[in-house]
Amino acid sequence: SRNGVAVLGVFVVDLAFRAGNMPAIGETIAGSGFAMGPGGKGSNQAVAAARAGASVSFISRIGSDAFGELAIKTWETEGIRPRVARTAEAPTGAAFIYVHETRGDNAIIVVPGAAGAISPADVDAAADAISGSRVFVTQLEQPVDAARRGLEIARTAGSITVFNPAPAIKFDDDGLFALCDYVVPNETEAEGLTGIAVSDLAAARRAGDALLAKGAGTALITLGERGALFHARDRSLHVAPFAAGKVVETAGAGDAFVGGFAAALADGADPLEAARFGSATAGISVTRPGTAPAMPRRAEIDALLKG
Ligand code: RIB
Ligand code: NA
Repeated sequence: SRNGVAVLGVFVVDLAFRAGNMPAIGETIAGSGFAMGPGGKGSNQAVAAARAGASVSFISRIGSDAFGELAIKTWETEGIRPRVARTAEAPTGAAFIYVHETRGDNAIIVVPGAAGAISPADVDAAADAISGSRVFVTQLEQPVDAARRGLEIARTAGSITVFNPAPAIKFDDDGLFALCDYVVPNETEAEGLTGIAVSDLAAARRAGDALLAKGAGTALITLGERGALFHARDRSLHVAPFAAGKVVETAGAGDAFVGGFAAALADGADPLEAARFGSATAGISVTRPGTAPAMPRRAEIDALLKG
């Protein structure tokens, strides 16, 4: 029988620089901190799901280099089963992350490197991992063709499909949303997909309607410090945010939400309960530095949910 979570996506090494402002062109400024660690939306989501207690496979592509070694070490430590091709043709990707010194918010440049060439054939090679999973998760850091193939395989097998359309890019969504049980964008991504600026809950509901009209089973729009909107055909509910301490770094919060949500679904939780679990996962992650390293464990999430 199907169990656990299969994630298709990108691993990159995150290079996080803390500073009081972004340098202007031609300017050099002194930062106040630097950290290097595992990142990439798909891999972050896999780490979040694994720490939340799910059995996780990760499908991707990395280079034959030192950053690729960090990827393998990360998945080993987290107990994630990699279904990952290694290539000498391109390097493992990297992300430049500017973190605002006091606010903790961020700006990111991501280069997917080898993962930018993940193809439908790579996904076919891991079809057994996808069809054997209870929940399948993917994003848009790798080519959309690969995401589409993963969603098709998962849908045919009867897995629950979760699509995180991140980052916000223009892509050909022809029929793609109809393959998704859950579409989980943030405010920016929801606006890019629907043309509706998600300024408040009422606007989020209109964006949710537009995503349902595109074929999504349920729209789950994350709203930063305002929590999320769970928008299905038969019910539309606000998912409260969880404050777990001082906000240190928000990069990876969306990944925490998606990974926690997927783990709870794989555990058989009701979808709305799973969304609350995702919200709590994200609430803890922002109180810690880093993306993947900030993901909480099951016991911490349960404790926050119990209040
Ligand atoms: O969602 C956060 C992630 O996006 C970072 O880890 C960075 O790698 C970028 O891909
Ligand atoms: Na964080």
